[in-house]
Amino acid sequence: MNREAIERYLEEAKETQLEQLKEWLRIPSISTLPEHQEDVLRAARWLADHMQAIGLEHVTLIPTEGHPLIYADWLHAGPDAPTVLVYGHYDVQPVDPLELWETPPFEPTVKEGPQGPDIYARGAADDKGQVFVHVKAVEALLATEGRLPVNVKFIVEGEEEVGSPNLTQMLPQLQEKLAADVCLVSDSHILSPTQPVIIYGLRGLWAGQLTVTGPRSDLHSGSFGGIVHNPNQALAELLATLHDEQGRITVPGFYDDVRPLTPQERELLAQVPYGEEEALAETGVPALYGEPEFTPVERTGARPTLEINGMWGGFTGQGFKTVIPSQAQAKISCRLVPDQTPERVYQLLRDHLEAIAPPTVRVTLEDFGGGLPALVDLDVPQMQAAVRAYEESFGATPLFTREGGSIPIVALFQQVLGAPVILMGFGLPDDNLHAPNEKFHLPNFYRGIRASIVFMRKVARG
Ligand code: BES
Ligand code: MN
Ligand code: MN
Repeated sequence: MNREAIERYLEEAKETQLEQLKEWLRIPSISTLPEHQEDVLRAARWLADHMQAIGLEHVTLIPTEGHPLIYADWLHAGPDAPTVLVYGHYDVQPVDPLELWETPPFEPTVKEGPQGPDIYARGAADDKGQVFVHVKAVEALLATEGRLPVNVKFIVEGEEEVGSPNLTQMLPQLQEKLAADVCLVSDSHILSPTQPVIIYGLRGLWAGQLTVTGPRSDLHSGSFGGIVHNPNQALAELLATLHDEQGRITVPGFYDDVRPLTPQERELLAQVPYGEEEALAETGVPALYGEPEFTPVERTGARPTLEINGMWGGFTGQGFKTVIPSQAQAKISCRLVPDQTPERVYQLLRDHLEAIAPPTVRVTLEDFGGGLPALVDLDVPQMQAAVRAYEESFGATPLFTREGGSIPIVALFQQVLGAPVILMGFGLPDDNLHAPNEKFHLPNFYRGIRASIVFMRKVARG
């Protein structure tokens, strides 16, 4: 191991690494939009070609019923060396509303921010930039030392933003190919450029759509108002039964499977410097909402939620129209925590809505599925490798927290591959994921590459 050689290499490679990331970010790999299917494939090919070029082996696009998986490995660290499986995703979210982007989403632009340069583009932090960190770490090690301290496998998918349907379905048959001692996932954020954090919990997800149908077709509200239950009103009445005034979910049985927080865990989470003040500043709301007996960090990381993501029905144009609509609908999703499952949550919500549905309308709840929540073991030796990796590259000891977002495949890696998962994120809380002006903090990108290298070295030493 030659620290000076690799430091010199990394210093000299910075410009090239950035140009390469930009090239990849220019490909609009939006997985949910059918018109971008070719672009998603192009983004997969771009990374596969790049992996091949830097010396990774067995680089393959694994076809699925949707977008392809990318697999690559380097397995010459010796029979006793551990294997690290790096997971990430090359698909990105849609860019709407486009008019709110200050620079075009697929023309990556570097701008100087208060804490250093940021690269602006859709996918910069979620997740192309963060996957690329590990590709660049592998490249630097191979270029300067000709080898890696551990065996490395990559699995990079193109459907994370649509719930990982095909990787989920194919994981059992990939079990042997992806066998590893530890999974490394960089698809989350730390607290600030100087305060890293290791996420040890992710929430799961259930999503669905509620439809309230009244009359066969829209009706004149003068001729029929007074004898027909307005579906918009019925929808609002149904939705209003889902929470109490303090934000607790009132669907019977909803909390039955929720694992309570232990006093030790509450102590750990209390160290995270994020409270009411920060949440108010970050969101701009006049007051916070939600279960008063839990802190904001606990509420977003360790408590489930039920959100109404959209609702519509009847006339919403300019002016007014005196109509009773035939139908009203709402998109609903729940963030889940261990040991809730999307199947059970759907069943509970459907039972509740069926039980309270008035006889005046028909109510149906469609199931879009979801993903499992996950908790990762803090006691595995690889966790110490991650702690040291952050310390050496960011110059600070990471805190531990639970995150509100979801990465559905994490729980399945634990179940199917039986390997511990380390969530080593390099994003920042204000990276604007899924929103206009997504960015990735470039110092985090470069420090991330060093963190990845340190992680591999520490894992190798066991
Ligand atoms: N990278 C995010 C998840 C995330 C966000 C983790 C913030 C940690 C901090 C991921 O790409 C994502 O957006 N997941 C979706 C999953 C869904 C589409 C199944 C989510 O959480 O909404
Ligand atoms: Mn992501
Ligand atoms: Mn995302």
